[in-house]
Amino acid sequence: MQIDLSGRVVVVTGAARGIGRLIAAAFTREGAHVVGLDLEAGALAELQEESLAELVLTCDITDPDQVRQAVAAVDEQFGRLDVLINNAGINAEGPLESFEPALWDQVFAVNVRGVLNTCQAVIPLMKRQRSGRIINAASFAAIIPSVEAAAYGASKAAVVQMTRVLASELGPWGITVNAYAPGMIPTAMNGFAALDEQAASTKLDQLSVRRWGEGEDVANLCLFLAGDLSGYITGALLDVSGGKFATQDPGAAWRSL
Ligand code: NAI
Repeated sequence: MQIDLSGRVVVVTGAARGIGRLIAAAFTREGAHVVGLDLEAGALAELQEESLAELVLTCDITDPDQVRQAVAAVDEQFGRLDVLINNAGINAEGPLESFEPALWDQVFAVNVRGVLNTCQAVIPLMKRQRSGRIINAASFAAIIPSVEAAAYGASKAAVVQMTRVLASELGPWGITVNAYAPGMIPTAMNGFAALDEQAASTKLDQLSVRRWGEGEDVANLCLFLAGDLSGYITGALLDVSGGKFATQDPGAAWRSL
């Protein structure tokens, strides 16, 4: 069974590092034309030098003009756009009582408005083709949020609801829209890699598949969602968290080994 993505034009936001970089690499490996968008011009250039993306565009997804220009550049170079992966996202933490409103707005500007901007820019192209795949990074925080992470959790819950609405609005055009919820993947966004052994073990007790997540786990799901095999899946939130809190105490199974 093969997921044939050769020749597909795939835009990945936040492609410069972390999970986005691995998503870009996976689609390039599968023969897709990968376009990486990010704020970080230097890291984007490296992505291209390492042949992990065919085209890279410095773009702040919170700015609709920059996003429109980037999508126009994709249309000009490739004449189509098959897959949009809304991977870019930010986190900010603090108690809600004293949470800085400007920081709240920033989280929503990237995680919610950024997704709106990219979707609005690509939808006309996908409608023109009468096909397309939009794949949105939500988070396990959209299912169960964490203490001091209300902005992040609320923004990712918003992504899930946008995904469902868009899936319905775009169904008649042959476009599917799905979201995924990673659990815990050590990246620059979080402190998982810095946890001591005891703290890491407590965190891993939340999982049925008792290991940290990897960018490839997400990339593999994106490959499936982008391909022809997933055509009957839309409006879904797919959990790629290693079974985080699949039961109240997944660690119990590991402790009883
Ligand atoms: P990361 O912080 O390593 O990478 C995020 C990338 O997005 C960076 O390259 C950054 O420059 C880019 N970015 C940020 N703001 C941008 C903007 N305004 N315009 C364009 N690019 C922008 O994060 P990571 O961990 O790779 O996360 C990727 C996605 O996965 C995020 O949406 C995150 O919320 C989600 N996620 C990650 C989890 C994890 O455990 N790492 C868990 C659940 C969800």
